[in-house]
Amino acid sequence: MSVEREFERRAQAVPKLGLGLSVDVYSPDLGEVMSRFQRSAFRPAYLEIFRATTTALRAVSRYVGEIPLAYHGEGLWITQPDFSSMPFLERELTHVTSELNLLRSPWLNHECATKQMGGYTFGTYLPPLYTAESATLVADNIALVQEQLDQSRRPGEAFGPLFLLEMPPLTYFMAGTISVPEYFRLVTERTPCGLVLDIGHLWTVYRYTAARRQSSLQDFVERFLDEFPMDQVIEIHIAGLALHEAGRHAVVQQEYPEWIDAHAAPIQPVCWAILDQVLAHPCLRHLRGVALEVDTKPVELIVGEFAAARRRLGPVIDRLMEVTPSCSGGVEPVTHDGRAHEAEMDRRFLEEDYVRYAQIVSGHEPPTGPAWKAVVDDPSGLERYMYAYLPHEILEWGGALTDMFPETCRGLPEEGVALDEFLAWWFDRPRPTDRPYDFFLLKMDRFVEFVGERASTLLALARHEAGTLRQAYEDANAGSRSLTEFCP
Ligand SMILES: [Fe+2]
Repeated sequence: MSVEREFERRAQAVPKLGLGLSVDVYSPDLGEVMSRFQRSAFRPAYLEIFRATTTALRAVSRYVGEIPLAYHGEGLWITQPDFSSMPFLERELTHVTSELNLLRSPWLNHECATKQMGGYTFGTYLPPLYTAESATLVADNIALVQEQLDQSRRPGEAFGPLFLLEMPPLTYFMAGTISVPEYFRLVTERTPCGLVLDIGHLWTVYRYTAARRQSSLQDFVERFLDEFPMDQVIEIHIAGLALHEAGRHAVVQQEYPEWIDAHAAPIQPVCWAILDQVLAHPCLRHLRGVALEVDTKPVELIVGEFAAARRRLGPVIDRLMEVTPSCSGGVEPVTHDGRAHEAEMDRRFLEEDYVRYAQIVSGHEPPTGPAWKAVVDDPSGLERYMYAYLPHEILEWGGALTDMFPETCRGLPEEGVALDEFLAWWFDRPRPTDRPYDFFLLKMDRFVEFVGERASTLLALARHEAGTLRQAYEDANAGSRSLTEFCP
């Protein structure tokens, strides 16, 4: 069966959901969000839940009752060449399939991005290298995951939940040799996955590539959508954009500020305008849901924006759920010769490329070579990432070190050690990926290691503070949070 035909069959099995919310269980508290919607004229048609503990997800599925649930995964680094040989992969896939079944989710959405590459760890997503070889690898890794999802399909169903690949945001820069739409076209020509088109992410592609200087946003979006495999788009995300915390002091007098993807921030008018363009595209044939991503957003803003979206887009989305418009100009399926030796060579080269990627963005190597040409031509974006965004990520984001280890941090200057030396230490060498990704725990353990190497007299104190943190973290994850209070 052709890839195109197989996708068609899988897409038919995905229910039409409508306008929903993509949420985190705790931030803001989902119980509070849903009880607020009980007093509202408009309610979400579905909830896409970000990965959480099984206890929390079980509580959610009991609490929300009839509302369909979908799953937003995390930690499956399908852009990475070592994905298929990761030591804990089987355990992760078992965990994911059990959570998908718990929620009865029709899909597994995952960003086409990573937080770990070549032995280096980051706190937030980095997009793939946009090259043909990287697209092939992603398609093959998705096929591996989809096979696992199909094996654990629910009784009476032909397929497991459909893998949805989300187009990731750019955080100031992009590396690669092909365009973003071409990349996703290559992936979908090789494997029958669905796609998530995120409106804010699309805006960052315009803002942080040469497109911004070459065309208007509207023309860019029009061309992008004509080249992107819109036929495979199952879900659309829309969320806020904002200046990053580390750059808020900068007053930027330009049409498009240096915004990045920011779920806590209001949805910008420019994003509503792009969404109108997307929903009007004739190739959007398999849309099953549009979700406002609202994790970390104030509850009142969530309810207000959802009502605005319902009024503005409700009829259009309802119509898209009902009809299957035809799309002129289909894509010819590509034949693959499947030469295993060449694929293996590509994988090895990619491994080296991703190690370089991590070293370049952490400032340990200059950007050179065809994939980094755009960055060499205009290094300002990478510099913003390297000198403002990344230090904030390691020292502050997901737990500020001065809050996590207050006593140890107070003692460091007496030992002649500056706290920000931790950043250079973090990236000074690759470290084996020996456990499933958890940035908070990793940051905690690495900081204790750093203190042991650079200020050993403080090691006992750092270990003590880490022990207290670990206990608090385990208690929080044990399900004692307020969501369960909403459950009967
Ligand atoms: Fe998204």
